[in-house]
Amino acid sequence: MLDKIRQLLEEVNNLHAATPEEVEQLRIKYLSKKGEITMLMNDFRSVPAELKREVGQRINELKNRANERINSLKAEAAVQETATGHIDLTRTAYPLPLGTRHPLSIVKNEIVDIFSRLGFTLAEGPEVEDDWHVYSSMNFADDHPARDMQDTFFVEAHPDIILRSHTSSVQARVMERQQPPIRVICPGRVYRNEAISARAHCFFHQVEGLYIDEKVSFKDLKQVLLLFAQEMFGSDTKIRLRPSYFPFTEPSAEMDVSCTICGGKGCSMCKGEGWLEILGCGMVDPAVLEANGIDSTRYSGYAFGMGIERIANLKYQVKDLRMFSENDVRFLEEFTAAN
Ligand code: PHE
Repeated sequence: MLDKIRQLLEEVNNLHAATPEEVEQLRIKYLSKKGEITMLMNDFRSVPAELKREVGQRINELKNRANERINSLKAEAAVQETATGHIDLTRTAYPLPLGTRHPLSIVKNEIVDIFSRLGFTLAEGPEVEDDWHVYSSMNFADDHPARDMQDTFFVEAHPDIILRSHTSSVQARVMERQQPPIRVICPGRVYRNEAISARAHCFFHQVEGLYIDEKVSFKDLKQVLLLFAQEMFGSDTKIRLRPSYFPFTEPSAEMDVSCTICGGKGCSMCKGEGWLEILGCGMVDPAVLEANGIDSTRYSGYAFGMGIERIANLKYQVKDLRMFSENDVRFLEEFTAAN
C-alpha cells in the first residue's frame, strides 16, 4: 500500500494539462468517487492496525497534494485560455462582485437630497484654504481660540494657508461671487488637530447650509430644520433649539432631535435625556454679510452646519469613529442594502 501511495504521489507531482477539460479529466482519474486516490481510501480498512497511523497520514498527504496540484493546473489553464483568446463566452458572468457606497456618502447624499427638494443647490470649495475664508470673513476675532495650532492645521511656511476646520469657508466663497437670493448646501471634508480616538478624528465631514434673501427670519430656519429632521429620522421626530454661540451667527442655536432609538423616553443612546444634539445654526451675523459684500440693511439669512459622521452614527450606531476611515471591507459590506 505504501508503494502504491508513493507511486501515485510521483504521478501527481508530474501532472500536466493544457486545457480546463484536461484538468477535469485528471480530477476524475484521481479524486472522483471512483478515482484512484478515493479507492485507496476505501482500501484503508484492510490495512493492519499497526500500519494504520502511517498509511492514514500518507494518504492524507497524497490527497492534499493532488487537490493542490489540480487547483493550480486549473488556474494555469484558465489563464492560458484567456491569453490565447479561447474565452468561453457562454459562461455565466455571476457572481459579479459589486462595490458598496461608503456609509458617509450614503448619509451625505441623503442630506443633500432633502435640501435639494427644498430648492438648495450644491456648492463646494477647497479643503486647503486661506485664513480669510475660514476665519476672518466669518467674523472670528484675531485671537479666537479656534485659530490656535491646537485646532487648526497650518501648511508649513505659509501661516495664512490652512486646512479648513469647517465648511463655513464655502459660505464665504459663495457670497463673494453671488448676490442674494442664495440658497446653497455645502458638503465636504474638514480638518482639526485632534488626537485620534473612538470619538474624535483629525478629519471628518460636514454639511453646511446657507440661505440669504430679503426678510429671511428665524422662523424660516426653524421650519426648514424641522422638515429636515422629519425627513431624515422619521415623521414623528421633534426638534428643540437651545441658545448657543458661533462668531458668524447671531442669534445662534444648537439643535437637538428627539432620540432616534427611544423616541424621547430616555435610553442609553441619549443617556436618559430623550434628546440628541445634531447641528449648529443661527441667523447670519450682519458683520459676515458686510465682510462678504452683501448689503446687511437689505438682506438677512440663516446658516446651519452638521457633522455627517454624527448623523451616520445616529442612523447606524457605529461605536468607533475610526471605522469610517479604515475601509475594512467587512464594515463597508454592512451597507450594501442601504445603497
Ligand atoms: N461651522 C460650525 C461648526 O463647525 C457649524 C455651524 C455652521 C454653526 C453654520 C452655525 C451655522 O461647528
